[in-house]
Amino acid sequence: MGLRMPSGPGLFPLKRSSLLPFFSCSRRRRPPLFLARSGDWRSIRTQSLPSFAGLMGSRDGGGRCIEGGQGYAADIDSIREAQARIAPYVHKTPVLSSTSIDAIVGKQLFFKCECFQKAGAFKIRGASNSIFALDDKQASKGVVTHSSGQGTVSLELLEQVPEIDTIIVPISGGGLISGVALAAKAINPSIRILAAEPKGADDSAQSKAAGKIITLPSTNTIADGLRAFLGDLTWPVVRDLVDDIIVVDDDAIVDAMKMCYEILKMAVEPSGAIGLAAALSDEFKQSCAWHESSKIGIIVSGGNVDLGVLWESLYKR
Ligand SMILES: Cc1ncc(COP(=O)(O)O)c(C=O)c1O
Repeated sequence: MGLRMPSGPGLFPLKRSSLLPFFSCSRRRRPPLFLARSGDWRSIRTQSLPSFAGLMGSRDGGGRCIEGGQGYAADIDSIREAQARIAPYVHKTPVLSSTSIDAIVGKQLFFKCECFQKAGAFKIRGASNSIFALDDKQASKGVVTHSSGQGTVSLELLEQVPEIDTIIVPISGGGLISGVALAAKAINPSIRILAAEPKGADDSAQSKAAGKIITLPSTNTIADGLRAFLGDLTWPVVRDLVDDIIVVDDDAIVDAMKMCYEILKMAVEPSGAIGLAAALSDEFKQSCAWHESSKIGIIVSGGNVDLGVLWESLYKR
C-alpha cells in the first residue's frame, strides 16, 4: 500500500494488509509501531507533524470539540479519559533525576523520559488515544494519523512528582505543550509552563511576541522535530497558557545532548534535549521564572537519534 504524503496527516486503512508503514517523510528512521484493536491491526510510524488531533481525539471519545469549554481543543476530563484509554498500550515512563545536573543547573530537575516510550517518543500517546477512541465502523474507514496532542505526559509526571512547580516542554506545532499545559494548569493553576524552542525555528517565540501566529520562510536547526509551526488549535493554548518561551541555539542543544549521554546515560535526540538546554541557558537564569522556580520538570520528548548524527555533532565540538 503506497499512500505517501510529504507532510500533514495521512490516511491509512486498518487492515492486516496495512502492516507496512505509510509515511515516508520522516527525516530520520523511526521504528514503526503496530497496534491491534478488535482483531485488526493498525500501524503507526511516528513522525513530526504539527497536529493537535491526538489530543482532541474524536468527538465521541477522545476529547472535546473546540467550541466547548474554554474554547481549547481539549480539557482535563478528555485528557483523563485518554490516560485510561491508552494505559494498556503505552509505557508509564520513568522520571530520572541527577544530583550532578542539579548542581550544574542550580535547581532540582526531574526528567520525564519519553525517550523510553514505545517507538522512542511521546507520540504514541496521542496516536493511540485517537485510534482506540474509534468504534469499529469508524475504524473500518481508516484513520487520519497525527503525532501530537499529549496531556497524559503531564498527568503522569505530576502523579510521579506532585511538587513540581515548573515544566519545560519542547515546542514545534505546539500539540505536546498544549496538552501538557492544559492538564498541568487544571491540576495546579499556579504551575509555570515554559516552552523550549530552537533559534533556527523560533516561530512560537515570535508569535507570542506578536500576539498572532507567525510562520517562517525557512527553518534551520539540528532539532529536526521542532521545525513545524503553530496551528489554529494549538495557538490559543500557547498564547494563553504558556508562560514564556526560551530560545536556545544548536550548540546549547548539543551540549544538553552530551550531558544527557554522559550523566544520565541516555541517548536523547536534539528535540528531546532542548528542555535541558533551556534550563541551562542564560536566558532562563536571567528571567523571573528562574527565581520563582524550584522543582522543574523537563519533558525529554524523544530519543530517536541517529547514532551517526549524534556522533558527528558531538565529535565536531
Ligand atoms: C522529539 C520531539 N519532541 C517534541 C516535538 C514537538 O511536538 P509538537 O509539534 O507537538 O510541539 C516533536 C515534534 O514532532 C518531536 O519530534
